[in-house]
Amino acid sequence: MMWSGRFSQPTADLVLRYGESVSYDWKLYKHDIAGSIAHARAQLRAGMLTQAEFDAIESGLRGIEADIDAGQFHWSQKLEDVHMNIESELTRRIGAAGAKLHTARSRNDQVATDTRLYCRAQIDACMALVHDLQRALVLKAAEYAELRIPGYTHLQRAQPVTVGHHLLAYVEMLARDAERLGDCRRRLNICPLGSGAIAGSTINLDRAGIAAELGFAGVTENSMDAIADRDYVMETLFCLALIGTHLSRLSEDLVLWSSAEFGFATLSDAHTTGSSLMPQKKNPDVCELTRGKSGRLYGNLVSVMVAVKGLPLTYNRDLQEDKEPLFDSFETVDLALRVNAEMIAAMRLNPERCAAAVSDPLLLATDLADYLVRRGVPFRQAHELVGKAVAVAVGSGTPLNKLSLAQFREISPEYGEDVYSVFSLDRAMSLRTNPGAPNPDNTARRLAYWQAKLA
Ligand code: ARG
Repeated sequence: MMWSGRFSQPTADLVLRYGESVSYDWKLYKHDIAGSIAHARAQLRAGMLTQAEFDAIESGLRGIEADIDAGQFHWSQKLEDVHMNIESELTRRIGAAGAKLHTARSRNDQVATDTRLYCRAQIDACMALVHDLQRALVLKAAEYAELRIPGYTHLQRAQPVTVGHHLLAYVEMLARDAERLGDCRRRLNICPLGSGAIAGSTINLDRAGIAAELGFAGVTENSMDAIADRDYVMETLFCLALIGTHLSRLSEDLVLWSSAEFGFATLSDAHTTGSSLMPQKKNPDVCELTRGKSGRLYGNLVSVMVAVKGLPLTYNRDLQEDKEPLFDSFETVDLALRVNAEMIAAMRLNPERCAAAVSDPLLLATDLADYLVRRGVPFRQAHELVGKAVAVAVGSGTPLNKLSLAQFREISPEYGEDVYSVFSLDRAMSLRTNPGAPNPDNTARRLAYWQAKLA
């Protein structure tokens, strides 16, 4: 036991079981070892270790790392966490020098360092996967750039859009997600090592040198903040939760699109599942799971926020509860991004079904109001005049674009003979030239932008 000096009784078994974190925090081992080597090198520079002692520590830690990599390391629950497991094994392997490693360091600054390094590495991996999914969406958007579908508000047909425009909306969201992860990374990439347990140490190692070796951009400025702070965990969890939200909305769109009722899209057999009872079923389970997993991403964020909010400065053991949610969110989002990229790449759109749905002339009711506005009718009045035409069409079971000129004129003389030109989808799309609108040139420009950016 690391603190046997003070204690006369061994820790109770149940307390060991209750308090151990090594069953999950072993995942920090690479960062723990990198942090220890940087810390030992600072001790060497300070003349506290001989070159031979440093070499023994470094090669001892590298040996332990290789064994863990190979799945050949025995983790002991009695040693509580990844930090004490590695340190105690190092001392077992190299003797006296190993026992010097923990000078001027506490597990409090050690765990904060490891967790920041872990977040940094995982954020980098996650950003790459976000970009992969964006690439899959851009490719699909390019493939169906001008395939028109109804756009929906309130899940009611609203106005015509294109599959290209719709899918590129998710590319924009994911771009913000990646940017947000980048911001979070920049803020967390500061080294807490040297903060000790709470108040630094009387043995002053070169913090800047340690930070530089570990690739941190600087050192934390307040030892109490550095030990107590889990902002970066919560911020990371929020970034991941928001990715989950975006993926969940994409999932919901695809659930709808792949239903018989919509029929816009067909997901591949490889990314859907059958039913054990109903032979005809082809279920969008990946979408449903992604939608469902957003719940645990939010839960992970909330559980850390609640665990932290009442804690007096600085370290409290409650903080150990940050790791499982953090690991779980990264692992959940990692797989979600991968499987969604694959599923999108394999998805087919069904042009006939899309064309049938988008041929609904009511999708152009707003364009009809704009037509009246161009003829000088104030918009509110135009809205009313089109509303009346829609009522006549719906009431008589006539498509809006099949009302006779007389019927239009009876509603208002502002309707001219050219009113029918409004119902050309080509024209409707080409008129939307403002930036951000689903105009073919805009879509082409944005596709080219993303293709270059993500290349
Ligand atoms: N396993 C602990 C954690 O994850 C490491 C820090 C322990 N520090 C302490 N003072 N008990 O938070």
